[in-house]
Amino acid sequence: TEATNSFVIDEKVIDGIFKPRQDFSHKGTYGKVTIAAGSYGKIGAAVLATKSALRTGAGLTFVMAPQCGYEILQTSCPEAMFIRGGKEWLENFESEDDSVYGIGPGLGTHENTAEGLLTFLKSYKKPVVLDADALNIISKDRQNLNLIPQRSIITPHPKEFERLFGSTENSFERLKLAHKKAAELNIYIVLKDHHTQIITPEGNVFYNITGNAGLAKGGSGDILTGILASFLAQGYSEEEACIMGVWLHGRAADLAAEKYSKESMLATDVINTFGDVFEELN
Ligand code: APR
Ligand code: MG
Repeated sequence: TEATNSFVIDEKVIDGIFKPRQDFSHKGTYGKVTIAAGSYGKIGAAVLATKSALRTGAGLTFVMAPQCGYEILQTSCPEAMFIRGGKEWLENFESEDDSVYGIGPGLGTHENTAEGLLTFLKSYKKPVVLDADALNIISKDRQNLNLIPQRSIITPHPKEFERLFGSTENSFERLKLAHKKAAELNIYIVLKDHHTQIITPEGNVFYNITGNAGLAKGGSGDILTGILASFLAQGYSEEEACIMGVWLHGRAADLAAEKYSKESMLATDVINTFGDVFEELN
């Protein structure tokens, strides 16, 4: 197949991407995020993704979730604005809406949700971040892959990748398939694993070496969705957002492991450690 370039994400790469906060700025400078996530029993996923967007610097954060999540979200994330999702989920989105969507954590795959998401994708043209149940909904029909907006970021774990694109013999074959699909669909694939790989539509691969097995717990993926949508909203390119996001997620996890141990650290602890990572960068 075509020639590809591989890069390891190190601190030099990150220093070249990171843009410090400007003194003369306001919330409009840092963009809007809408996290569309959560369903009954999985509102925690929406909480984690939303907190994660808030804690990585987005200017304004909205969370679209079913009514059962209203009090939980308004209490746990008072800085975020609630938009009722549920039955008409995303069908009523405003097309002039200038926020960046992060869609999928804990969303569920109920048929109304699926219909709402697919209707949204049919008319939405800007890059979005798609994770978890958003990917599972898309996986139900191969034709749905063509609905993913150009230059979007998808964040499958190995099982979600298999549901989307089919099974492969080994991780080398999986990477080859990811290359093919990233180019064909013009999307960024963040292949989540112990060493997460970012595959760009141009065929570059960025290897991440931060992160640890303390992340092998429910909720770790949800916070990555919030980070990526937040960085996109702040004006980082899709490639920069993927590189910075995956690196920061892992780096915060490494600092959280030092403080709490890999066994005990929670996704919430990782979010609360983002600040230490930004301090290292600033
Ligand atoms: N070493 C390093 N990083 C790891 C490790 C490890 N051993 N294990 C997991 N991670 C990282 C991954 O790279 C990824 O960024 O933690 C994150 C895990 O993401 P997910 O697999 O999406 O896990 P999770 O957030 O728990 O998913 C919650 O969403 O995807 C669905 O079906 C999934 O119900 C589950 C829910
Ligand atoms: Mg997940």
